[in-house]
Amino acid sequence: MQTITLGQDGPVVTPLCVGTWAWGDKLFWNYGTDYGAVQLREAFEASLNAGVNFFDTAEVYGMGLSEELLGQFMKQIDLPVIIATKYGPMPWRFTGQSVADALTASLKRLQVEQVALYQVHWPFTFFMSQETLMNALADEVQRGRIAAVGVSNYSADQMRVAHQILAARGVRLAANQVRYSLLSRQVETQGIVDTARQLGVTILAYSPLAQGLLTGKYSLKNFKEPTGARRFDSRFSRKGLEKIAPVISLLRELGDKYDRTEAQIALNWLIAQGNVIPIPGAKTAEQAAQNAGALGFSLQADEVAKLEQITRTFR
Ligand SMILES: NC(=O)c1ccc[n+]([C@@H]2O[C@H](COP(=O)([O-])OP(=O)(O)OC[C@H]3O[C@@H](n4cnc5c(N)ncnc54)[C@H](OP(=O)(O)O)[C@@H]3O)[C@@H](O)[C@H]2O)c1
Repeated sequence: MQTITLGQDGPVVTPLCVGTWAWGDKLFWNYGTDYGAVQLREAFEASLNAGVNFFDTAEVYGMGLSEELLGQFMKQIDLPVIIATKYGPMPWRFTGQSVADALTASLKRLQVEQVALYQVHWPFTFFMSQETLMNALADEVQRGRIAAVGVSNYSADQMRVAHQILAARGVRLAANQVRYSLLSRQVETQGIVDTARQLGVTILAYSPLAQGLLTGKYSLKNFKEPTGARRFDSRFSRKGLEKIAPVISLLRELGDKYDRTEAQIALNWLIAQGNVIPIPGAKTAEQAAQNAGALGFSLQADEVAKLEQITRTFR
């Protein structure tokens, strides 16, 4: 398996990461009804069996349950697992000590002494400045409880500021986790992708399958009224599906050529951008195995360009 260094000197990880927002989450996803811990454990194992051992979680996912499940699953196997988790800047967290406390709680739920990547979930400041926040994170790198610092949902300018504060402490910002897929390309026009490249910051692409749309399983042909949180997302409506139909059809055409699925082509396109690690969410072994199959082949330059052209309206 090919590997990638996060940032300039961060942990070495697989070119694909597994998203675990749905692990334990009932607010957006239907944990406990449509799927449960058994299916998630199978998804965890299927990822490892396919050689992908990099997992993204957050203290807020399932109110801590995502981290807890990962902790339990890791205890039951004897293989190295690389964890990225996230700190939520909340209005009631206003001293550096809150960062230390939140990290202590995450490490406890994960049953580990260190995480590879600790990310600030959103660029909210409230009553804690970025100066205080980044310094508290640099302290944790020095204490050895985190190997690298990341941010998430940061603009190009916010990324530069974080990078600068950390650099003064001798710590390099390793990653910025942002929404990025063929159907969400705003990070390109907002200068986030270019700035990350200039600073040597790796982009972690979240919702890389546009929450399932790029798998091709939602189509006008077999249209079903969207359920759960997808009811509030117009991209899953008839009109939304009509708009993305040409994209799905190109993904299918390329999938036929490479004997891969639409999802695998869509993830491979992100990888082809360079400096980008997609984080597809998986709830079952089948999804996890299929997503890992995005590795091991490369689209040709003209195919990458064709996909770029057909999704220009999503920039
Ligand atoms: N930093 C942030 O603010 C932020 C925000 C959002 C997400 N994230 C991270 O990014 C990860 C992924 O994002 P996401 O879950 O929003 O979107 P996504 O990865 O684009 O879509 C995931 C969903 O698509 C479906 N799916 C996945 N693989 C599939 C496959 N091979 N075949 C068919 N269906 C498949 C599953 O839903 P169904 O089974 O219901 O169809 C799955 O839950 C999250 O788990 C989280 O780690 C971070």
